[in-house]
Amino acid sequence: MRELTPETITDAVLDQMSTTPDARMREIMAAAVRHLHAFAREVNLTPGEWIKGIEFMTLVGKTCTPARQEFILLSDTLGLSALVNGLHDETALEEGTHTSLLGPFYREASPRLAAGSQIARHVKPGTECVLYGRVTDIHDKPLTDATVSVWQTSADGLYDIQENASAVDYRGVFATDENGLYVLRTVKPRGYSIPMDGPVGAMVKAQARHGMRPAHIHFLVGSPGYRELVTALYLRDDPHLADDVVFGSSDDLAVDIVPADPDCPIPGLPSVRFDLKLSRESEADKTGGRVGSDPSAILKEAKIAAAAPAAS
Ligand code: BEZ
Ligand code: FE
Repeated sequence: MRELTPETITDAVLDQMSTTPDARMREIMAAAVRHLHAFAREVNLTPGEWIKGIEFMTLVGKTCTPARQEFILLSDTLGLSALVNGLHDETALEEGTHTSLLGPFYREASPRLAAGSQIARHVKPGTECVLYGRVTDIHDKPLTDATVSVWQTSADGLYDIQENASAVDYRGVFATDENGLYVLRTVKPRGYSIPMDGPVGAMVKAQARHGMRPAHIHFLVGSPGYRELVTALYLRDDPHLADDVVFGSSDDLAVDIVPADPDCPIPGLPSVRFDLKLSRESEADKTGGRVGSDPSAILKEAKIAAAAPAAS
């Protein structure tokens, strides 16, 4: 038998895994092993340090519930979600509006609202603003009846479900008109901290990072024949625009609140204009294109998996 050393172990593992029948799985696992071994060699990882790493990941798993996905939060704070989404963006047929993270607060069950509706149930004086824009293809052709789903925090920086698990607030689904226009009333969102009470928060604190996301409004935009767009607008004056803890913000998604925009469809209120350009759909879009979670969807999937007979 050949002697295994730190120099030969990587090839031995790759050799044994080379029987994997699924070619893509073989490729992914081989690369993962090569990079993991290289990482351990680079930092001269000690057994005690690796046990700490295993304990950390165990805690990340134990912190996951139907309403909380700590592993996605870990992926977000390591920039891996933004990287994987960015790689997927490069497969688009055309360069539309840049994407941003879906985040954990999206809900499939959002109210469909008429154009111009206010999405907040309670509006504190001085916080109301209009949000509008056009949904087009990359050649500026308006997309009629596109679905524009938005969700955001209150002016206090909390999502509805953080205040009350069954509340539905600060979110809504709108349809574009014949000019591709969507318009709604909302309140100015506020930057907020990601959940810091779990192992990912402990990691972020140990790294002396602030844990903040800049103020933003999420968008999920769909139109038949076009790649679904998951993005967000970011308020340009937020102090954390350039150092978002989950690497979702970028300059091209930054907007200003304009006190009196003559083009705003609802006059008399400050407004934000955010136009959205969709790329045509391609084969790559059929495999699902975003890292994120709707806990209610996870719960649904978990129930389906539990009900299905185990694979042999
Ligand atoms: C959010 O924008 O809602 C979010 C994204 C990633 C992690 C936590 C929150
Ligand atoms: Fe968010």
